[in-house]
Amino acid sequence: MDMLRRPRRNRKSPVIRDLVQENSLSLSDLIYPMFVMEGEGVRSEIASMPGVARFSLDLLLEEMQECVDLGLRTFALFPNLPESKKDKYATESHNPEGLYLQAVKVIKTRFPDIALMTDVAMDPYSSDGHDGIVQEGPDGFEIVNDESLVVLAKMAVAQARAGADIIGPSDMMDGRIAYIREALDAEGFTNVSIMAYTAKYAGAFYGPFRDALDSAPRFGDKKTYQMNPANSREALIEAELDYAEGADFLMVKPAMAYLDIIKLLNDNFDLPIAAYNVSGEYAMVKAAAANGWIDGERAMLEILMAMKRAGAKIILTYFAKEVAQLRKY
Ligand code: PBG
Repeated sequence: MDMLRRPRRNRKSPVIRDLVQENSLSLSDLIYPMFVMEGEGVRSEIASMPGVARFSLDLLLEEMQECVDLGLRTFALFPNLPESKKDKYATESHNPEGLYLQAVKVIKTRFPDIALMTDVAMDPYSSDGHDGIVQEGPDGFEIVNDESLVVLAKMAVAQARAGADIIGPSDMMDGRIAYIREALDAEGFTNVSIMAYTAKYAGAFYGPFRDALDSAPRFGDKKTYQMNPANSREALIEAELDYAEGADFLMVKPAMAYLDIIKLLNDNFDLPIAAYNVSGEYAMVKAAAANGWIDGERAMLEILMAMKRAGAKIILTYFAKEVAQLRKY
């Protein structure tokens, strides 16, 4: 057959395939989300997230040490609080003696060289299970924007004071990046970074995370603040605002079903793009693998590579420890 161009030549052997490989996955791309809870000696498995657990602080430190030894260096922390610590205004979120801020402080003292990302949103501390303050207005319940910013900024400053390296506002209130940036700067935390949850969609993939935190909305849904999964141009508006308001990173969440959004932001903005490979995406792979329907390990690596290929420099993923373990032979 007379054929000048044969693409298969570039796939003919492992060494040639490696030579032409365009993207790669590295441990330094990964952020490992972890869950802290009250108590001592507690490891509480999350049924919908096999392999992921909530830890009391003592065991969390041990788990983190294991991850650091495996080569992971960046972590995101979320708190699981008992109902008794939750209220309408998420007061516990800025209590310096509370579980979360104490954990941040202890972690950064024990591991000064890691980068620790903290979460800014009211839902883990809110008796309403919403990311902002819920008020009853003429048209029923409303998640009020500007009043919520005050709480979010208090939380962010308290986290910076506890030692957070990166603040992660996951709440989707308007104007929060500028509001938080100004609050941080006013307190002298000009070196604390902000990773904006820029395009966070109101979808079905957060279920297992809400199990982990017992943080599901007590009523309604999050559609008045998180984005409609049908929209992509709207992500550009969010990104323009977060960029202008001083964000250091732009995040897309979830990741698997939103690869086009990752690419869109990467093509249009020069900030590093992060993708949040969320709990539901993790659970799907684990469930299918447990049934023997897919090869979980290969699917995991393929999914993470797809996010890199789409343009994510950074991936927040519950698979991080497993990836780290794979690389260590
Ligand atoms: C809420 C928040 C959510 C996640 C991180 N922060 C879920 C939600 O919006 O209810 C989800 C993470 C995941 O599913 O892995 N502030």
